[in-house]
Amino acid sequence: MIRLEDIRKVYPGTTTPAVSGLSLEVPEGAIAVLVGPSGCGKTTTLKMINRLIEPTGGRILVDGRNVLEAEAHELRRSIGYVIQQIGLFPHRTIEDNIATVPRLLGWDRARIASRIDELIELMDLESDMRTRYPAELSGGQRQRVGVARALAADPPVMLMDEPFGAVDPIIRARLQDQFLELQARLRKTIVMVTHDIDEAITLGDRVAILNVGGILEQYGAPGDVLRDPANEFVADFLGSDRGIKRLSLIPVSSVELDPGPVLSPAASTAEARDAMARYGIDWVAVGEGDRLDGWVPADELAGPGPVGDARLRRFQTRLSATSSLKEALDAVVSSHTSVAAVFDGERYLGMLTADRISAEILR
Ligand SMILES: Nc1ncnc2c1ncn2[C@@H]1O[C@H](COP(=O)(O)OP(=O)(O)OP(=O)(O)O)[C@@H](O)[C@H]1O
Ligand SMILES: [Mg+2]
Repeated sequence: MIRLEDIRKVYPGTTTPAVSGLSLEVPEGAIAVLVGPSGCGKTTTLKMINRLIEPTGGRILVDGRNVLEAEAHELRRSIGYVIQQIGLFPHRTIEDNIATVPRLLGWDRARIASRIDELIELMDLESDMRTRYPAELSGGQRQRVGVARALAADPPVMLMDEPFGAVDPIIRARLQDQFLELQARLRKTIVMVTHDIDEAITLGDRVAILNVGGILEQYGAPGDVLRDPANEFVADFLGSDRGIKRLSLIPVSSVELDPGPVLSPAASTAEARDAMARYGIDWVAVGEGDRLDGWVPADELAGPGPVGDARLRRFQTRLSATSSLKEALDAVVSSHTSVAAVFDGERYLGMLTADRISAEILR
């Protein structure tokens, strides 16, 4: 859907290029994230795609059309753009901000009004915000208006420059979740810029890691880049917790679970000791069928049993199949049993151990 071919930008009056020979492709419906240190040419690259900045060289194709031969104004209206630092017009109300491109396109009043209603709802904003000014909204709300404005004319392609940059980590995580839900429905082709590698990994179907001078060091799926960094720059940029970051991309459902040392409540203490020896642990779990009642440490198993008579402890963290292996690892290291128990609602599915999780990192 978007193809950059050997694009270059040398700003007038400078000698070192801001972007040098960058080539990459973004398939239809995918999110590509440009990530890299400050000043590495991310914004410059993004702005060349809708020609807010004219490239010095190279070719840019959007939906098969050569952008450099298109009429620049018309092009900008057909591509949604979220500006770094939000960039809402401060003296226009929220609804006027959102209506910017539809008005330029000459939509009639009724159509614009109903589109604004739709977007306010879509972005989880309140309708009484329509007539407020940007300064009368919170940072997170303003960012959502920025996204709504870019979506207004329903462009197939969106360019987003640090769309969630100006908010605190909690709101940011929520906006990212909302954004992914939205994208699952809208399937836009998106090029997004961030300097936050975690955001790139969370949101990107592909990540492009740029170095100073707009040099593309690596481009690929986040899982692939994390597993096989192309060079030291990429490895450094990904950080020393690269393995753990990869775990955040793998759902529990994709690995085989261990049934775990689960005994029926009627089992004897001798059977419990057998199970503990087999697993090399000093506790057993008690349950029946797809029910897991809890666990009990070895030194509380007195007498011949049954084990169901012991005082059972709850598995504190209950994971689901959609949890990530990173969450599973967190459950493992913060539990007394050193396992993560996985459930589907009340139904017990199995357990994960640190060994099992680390085998996934090494795959
Ligand atoms: N109009 C301009 N004239 C000259 N140099 C410029 C101009 N705009 C940007 N630059 C330079 O080009 C390089 C890339 O800038 P760009 O804004 O693309 O970086 P960025 O990766 O978006 O950085 P940040 O993460 O800080 O937003 C920088 O060195 C910057 O100083
Ligand atoms: Mg920038």
